[in-house]
Amino acid sequence: MGVVPLPQVSRRWLRYTIALAIFALLLLYLYHRSQRGLSGCGSGAQPCVSEGPPPSQILQQWGALEAPERGEPPCLGPRGMLGRLVRPFRASLSLDGDVELSQYLAGWRELIKFLTPFGSIFTFATSEAFTKVTALEARVHGPEAAHYKTLVTMAAWERRAGRLERPGAAPPDSARSSGSRTALLLHRALRWSQLCLRRVATGAHRGPSAGEQCSDAYSAVLGPHHPWLVRQAARLAFLSFPGRGRLLELACPRTTEAEARAALARAAATLEEVYNRTQGLLAERGLLQLA
Ligand SMILES: *[C@@H]1O[C@H](CO)[C@@H](O)[C@H](O)[C@H]1NC(C)=O
Repeated sequence: MGVVPLPQVSRRWLRYTIALAIFALLLLYLYHRSQRGLSGCGSGAQPCVSEGPPPSQILQQWGALEAPERGEPPCLGPRGMLGRLVRPFRASLSLDGDVELSQYLAGWRELIKFLTPFGSIFTFATSEAFTKVTALEARVHGPEAAHYKTLVTMAAWERRAGRLERPGAAPPDSARSSGSRTALLLHRALRWSQLCLRRVATGAHRGPSAGEQCSDAYSAVLGPHHPWLVRQAARLAFLSFPGRGRLLELACPRTTEAEARAALARAAATLEEVYNRTQGLLAERGLLQLA
């Protein structure tokens, strides 16, 4: 008669149960946050801002469509996943060294669309991003829109108007945080996305998996700013991260691996350019300590 090694089995079940409990708590926490975020938009059924860019902007974008460069994979072209994401981010970099907020947010919308199908960790990181993009869009298109054209005008105006939080002091209600603070949180999430995508694009076949690379980027960039519970849930979520091949296939379907890697690396480089500029502007204004 075989003896079932009960202690071991139950230890495993205990681990599963704890993991599930943490995950359930995280979902509850995110649900709660998103409800609070939504309530910032006033009387319920009306969304804060209309979906997508205004018609004039769409026309501009159509006007600016160029045929993809010769030999460029379709995913970087006007209809490709990466192309749609790179274009508004590039357009947000204005010639005078500023960052145009409406283009930056349009880029973020595309980034979220791109990242969401990758699984729970992206949904988890981006549902927060989604709330923040919506909150900042409400300002960019709201009654004070004139002050929210660029990162520089926003920061200057919020400082003059006394809207900036004290450094390190989170506002009691995140839906009411200043535009500058919301931009800072998005800025960090952009860094994580950029590092994650670049590492996926350049990682060696025998090196760490895509999940490990993006998990490391999470620990370096976002982890230090997240509560313990969220960090644990993130670690668990990274276990179900898709493999490099699947990520490349989603980013750049129907092409060779080398081409997909090159395209993803280019998209990551654009995100880095936007990150670098935003980082400089926020640092010059002492805004990196806002949250
Ligand atoms: C961003 O800044 C870093 C550090 O200053 C630099 O090494 C990197 O080349 C910059 N990236 C881009 C795309 O400009």
